[in-house]
Amino acid sequence: MATPVINTNPPNKVEIHPENYRFLQDYIYKESGIVIERDKHYLLEARLLPVAKKRDMATINDLCNLLRATGPADLKRQVVEAMTTHETLFYRDPAQFEALRKTILPPLIEQRKSLRKLSFWSAASSSGQEAYSVAMMLRGMGLRDWNISITGTDLSEQILQRARTGLFSQLEVNRGLPVQDLVMYFTRQGLDWQLKDEVRKMVNFRLFDLRQSMRPLGQFDIVFCRNVLIYFDQDTKKKILEEIRGTIVPGGYLLLGGAETAMAAADKFERVQTNGAVLYRVL
Ligand SMILES: C[S@@+](CC[C@H](N)C(=O)[O-])C[C@H]1O[C@@H](n2cnc3c(N)ncnc32)[C@H](O)[C@@H]1O
Repeated sequence: MATPVINTNPPNKVEIHPENYRFLQDYIYKESGIVIERDKHYLLEARLLPVAKKRDMATINDLCNLLRATGPADLKRQVVEAMTTHETLFYRDPAQFEALRKTILPPLIEQRKSLRKLSFWSAASSSGQEAYSVAMMLRGMGLRDWNISITGTDLSEQILQRARTGLFSQLEVNRGLPVQDLVMYFTRQGLDWQLKDEVRKMVNFRLFDLRQSMRPLGQFDIVFCRNVLIYFDQDTKKKILEEIRGTIVPGGYLLLGGAETAMAAADKFERVQTNGAVLYRVL
């Protein structure tokens, strides 16, 4: 007896036409550098169907037709925003933050004690937890009267607007934030938590596509470029890593995400391993 074919598609589900799938792959790559592989139909459905529905379109195929017809600028932005993943948390990768506190910063602080100046960049900052973790850590290290510059950048203006508010939900502060930091640097605001201005104002957020020239950003002692290179192809990774190299002062460090390496630009960085954390030092 023939095995019955079970259709797991919800009723009336319209598949993305293969031409439209390729169109979206190219479009998202051009607008963000993000690579959508061939078998990510579910991802496109989950992220883009709500965008289509908001505009009273029933399918992603309709959305593609509108995009092709040089659709409204805000629609283009919404598609890119919908395709970016903003997952982040406070002190994500604690071993790296420990390495920063114990290994990287003490000699750097000693070296800069007359200048009293340090600069950090959270590239692909998402909603700001990474940059604010650095800010809180530095305050905890007693660097209050130093000239500290922390820049957070992202491709998504929407997520940057959130980051600038410094307002976090209970769920967000439950993820990675030590209770001492919560007590010291946040105040209750309804169901949420508001980061105090003394920390919030330490970080400057701005829109920046990592594929742009990084020269206008200036120079940094430490760059966090975490959990974003994974979305790019080898070529894009290499260019970004080389550009980042140009923004870091000699002796400074690049910190990548756990699933990322600087292999694409291995000759530009020295890989340093310390207490379970991998760091990339600029020679
Ligand atoms: C998963 S989050 C990483 C957040 C944080 N760095 C962390 O590790 O927790 C990735 C971020 O990269 C941003 N992004 C994606 N493509 C980008 C690009 N071409 N330029 C700048 N940011 C980009 C997304 O908007 C998203 O907020």
